[in-house]
Amino acid sequence: MKNILVTGGAGFIGSAFVRRMVAKYPQYTLIVFDKLTYAGNLDNLLPVKDAPNYRFERGDIADRAAVQRVCEQYAIDAIVNFAAESHVDRSILEPDAFINTDIVGVYVLLDVARQLGIPRLHHVSTDEVYGSIEEGFFRETDPLQPNSPYAASKAGGEMMVRAYHVTYGLHTTVTRGSNTFGPYQYPEKIAPFFITEAIDDRPLPLYGDGMQVRDWLYVDDHAEAIEVVLLHGTPGEVYNVGGEHELHNIEVTRFILETLGKPESLIRYVADRPGHDRRYALTNDKIRRELGWEPQHTFEDAMRSTIAWYRENEWWWRKIKTGEYLEFYKMQYAERLANAQQHGGA
Ligand SMILES: NC(=O)c1ccc[n+]([C@@H]2O[C@H](COP(=O)([O-])OP(=O)(O)OC[C@H]3O[C@@H](n4cnc5c(N)ncnc54)[C@H](O)[C@@H]3O)[C@@H](O)[C@H]2O)c1
Repeated sequence: MKNILVTGGAGFIGSAFVRRMVAKYPQYTLIVFDKLTYAGNLDNLLPVKDAPNYRFERGDIADRAAVQRVCEQYAIDAIVNFAAESHVDRSILEPDAFINTDIVGVYVLLDVARQLGIPRLHHVSTDEVYGSIEEGFFRETDPLQPNSPYAASKAGGEMMVRAYHVTYGLHTTVTRGSNTFGPYQYPEKIAPFFITEAIDDRPLPLYGDGMQVRDWLYVDDHAEAIEVVLLHGTPGEVYNVGGEHELHNIEVTRFILETLGKPESLIRYVADRPGHDRRYALTNDKIRRELGWEPQHTFEDAMRSTIAWYRENEWWWRKIKTGEYLEFYKMQYAERLANAQQHGGA
């Protein structure tokens, strides 16, 4: 492996992977291919912009000619796909882009890989494909029961990956990561959204009763797991990647407020997201046993350093929280906040 195409590498987790791989493997060249949607951000790649083993190409994974051109130009011998529409709320408002990128885009990558004989393709998926589980933990062999258009589109992409492995013998792997947090995350997702709103003493709109359970995974651990699977994973296999730290959304919210020294009175309970999954939980048994990976960071330390990062890097997020961001905020939260209940009743 020499030239790795990282699709969606200007987003949150993709850029963490690129920053890590560029520094660790000078013998590989990392070529980021990214459409730069609202979530893509070249600021995420500033730390590597002058590295000799990093390149950037703008393009859409659903554009076959563009994917083929970049793969031929750089003699790509591995693809790692992070590119996706990734926000559940947006998938409920406008599913179209999710179908195009998360299903059609994945198909295009697979088919170009098949046609050009690219020997390796890793696809980044999510624990949301399993659906909700009240008790116990999902294993890789459990059925997929996605509940949001986002989760369903990710499940669709994964099924194409599977079919290309079985039918054409493509060397593919898939990781299903859990709820990821860390620096450079677009501030629509709960952690950076609440951290940056709380810094400005603004209300935090918490969906439903705040008792939804998520497994929290630090972004560097997620990036490391993808590295390990890319280098050592077995063809055709799927690996869960969990942070092994379950929390209710209200607990995460309280942790953020406490760390920032802000009052709980900033919490507002707002109308829930339709189809909101109650609990996601998965076991890391397989990746631990077969590849020796396990999370290296505790939730508390990683969340504290994440909060410190947003405090110290307002240059990064203040310019994002304008324009399109504000339009989405208004559409998603204005009415909910107007009808909200303050924490503790009222
Ligand atoms: N964030 C999480 O908690 C989480 C957890 C598990 C899995 N995942 C998966 O990890 C991957 C990365 O997630 P993220 O949080 O970094 O997402 P993100 O939204 O921050 O980044 C997505 C990136 O993909 C790019 N992109 C979107 N459509 C594209 C297209 N058609 N062609 C090329 N580039 C395109 C965007 O510009 C952006 O840079 C996604 O596949 C997501 O499903 C995310």
